[in-house]
Amino acid sequence: MFVYKLLCLVLILRLRAAAPTGSAHLGDSARFWHITDLHLDPTYHVTSDPREVCSSSKGSPASDAGPFGAFLCDSPYRLIQSAFSHMEPLVQAHDFIIWTGDSPPHVSPEKLSTDAVIQLMKNMTLTFRKHFPNTTVFPSIGNHDYWPQDQLPAFTNQIYRAAAELWRDWLKDDALLTLAEGGFYSQLVKPGLRLLSVNTILYYGPNKAVGNGSDPAGQFLWLEKTLAGAAQRLEKVFIIGHVPVGFLPYARNTTAIREEHNERLLSIYRKYSDVITGQFYGHTHRDSVMVLLNHQGKAVNSLFVSPAVTPIKDAKDPFSNNPGLRLYVYDPQDYGVMDIWQYYLNLTEANERRRSDWRLEYVMTEAFGLSDLRPQSLLKLGLELMTPHSDAFLTYFRHFMVGYDSSFTCEGPCWLNQVCAVLYLDQDAYAHCVANEQLWR
Ligand SMILES: *[C@@H]1O[C@H](CO)[C@@H](O)[C@H](O)[C@H]1NC(C)=O
Ligand SMILES: *[C@@H]1O[C@H](CO)[C@@H](O)[C@H](O)[C@H]1NC(C)=O
Ligand SMILES: *[C@@H]1O[C@H](CO)[C@@H](O)[C@H](O)[C@H]1NC(C)=O
Ligand SMILES: *[C@@H]1O[C@H](CO)[C@@H](O)[C@H](O)[C@H]1NC(C)=O
Ligand SMILES: *[C@@H]1O[C@H](CO)[C@@H](O)[C@H](O)[C@H]1NC(C)=O
Repeated sequence: MFVYKLLCLVLILRLRAAAPTGSAHLGDSARFWHITDLHLDPTYHVTSDPREVCSSSKGSPASDAGPFGAFLCDSPYRLIQSAFSHMEPLVQAHDFIIWTGDSPPHVSPEKLSTDAVIQLMKNMTLTFRKHFPNTTVFPSIGNHDYWPQDQLPAFTNQIYRAAAELWRDWLKDDALLTLAEGGFYSQLVKPGLRLLSVNTILYYGPNKAVGNGSDPAGQFLWLEKTLAGAAQRLEKVFIIGHVPVGFLPYARNTTAIREEHNERLLSIYRKYSDVITGQFYGHTHRDSVMVLLNHQGKAVNSLFVSPAVTPIKDAKDPFSNNPGLRLYVYDPQDYGVMDIWQYYLNLTEANERRRSDWRLEYVMTEAFGLSDLRPQSLLKLGLELMTPHSDAFLTYFRHFMVGYDSSFTCEGPCWLNQVCAVLYLDQDAYAHCVANEQLWR
């Protein structure tokens, strides 16, 4: 029976993937959406001088600019609307949405202000409410959701309070309270499933507003208490946040958050790995996964980094990402993550045709031949990626950029950065992984 069901599921997935119209889904399976890094640039407009298209290109010529955006620019409003319009008919009654932050554009601080940042967060909030009036959205604050960017304090301020006001329709009073105080919250999604939105910007390297105190805003204490409470009530927990834990997949030896805080978070996540069934982040704009191993090398947590809606890249960066958003499928009994349906917009094509055909990019279990996305399965994937020139790695890297440029290859140090970041989230293990570079030549 089980095997039969599995076969049916695989068949359905195959059919859907072959004809990715995105018009229907896996029946009644439990699911939620993840959308991140919208980075609205209200100055975006197509014009004859490519340097004038958007302030987020910082004077670099956005020569590929079209109605849905450009690879040197943050999102035009039209791109964000197209993303939401694609999702709208696919969202079902019991779905919820996680939104892991970063509404303002990448521009210098003089071009923004506290009020401008709040207005951009408000604009995005209203846009969610307009498209999804009956869906709960669980937001996280990003490093750009502050002025000046990255400098989120460990105490209450105008922006945390504005967020608590804006998100009143989605969050309960106790969640709004900690949100206004420290930018984080906990809320029950449904009986048995709790969501924790962690303010990882308090641990973000460029944040000078938070000293090197051992527990900014008391968030570690809160996290431990909340996880212990969830364990006691036999709840399972999804962790969401903007800046991910672990190492950046496109740099050598660089954690996204400060090293000591990374280690501290990981030790909490290991301690409560039976309670936490998934972790969901944004910030890097790229598509990647991580597997948290315990000290015995057993896979204990699945972590996912979702690609951005904004296609922006720096003028000196070789690669970028097409706009993306995704659907997660989870097990309604134990809340393990079962699958990802990753959608994307081919920005080049959309601009050429002046039409936005968001499509299914891939279904993760199918793309990598996995049975689900539980920690053991992701470990299997991580080990496959470790084989140089494996098909799995080629696929993984193409998806990393959301199909931005298939001619771009990732070998040698580039490949090692990627694969070590998947399996090794703390300093010692990561250092050991990259130290073996000679072996991989
Ligand atoms: C959001 O900003 C865009 C671009 O500036 C504007 O066109 C739109 O009307 C705004 N929407 C809301 C709900 O404020
Ligand atoms: C939202 O719920 C209201 C009231 O239950 C209903 O009338 C409306 O059609 C729903 N809207 C959507 C987009 O599902
Ligand atoms: C952070 O730590 C450094 C070195 O230990 C110290 O010099 C500095 O004053 C600390 N900064 C803050 C804001 O606590
Ligand atoms: C990696 O970074 C850490 C922390 O910044 C540093 O202590 C360590 O020496 C670095 N390792 C290598 C191999 O560069
Ligand atoms: C996107 O569209 C362009 C132009 O039509 C095409 O060359 C490219 O292969 C497409 N990329 C993907 C990932 O479909």
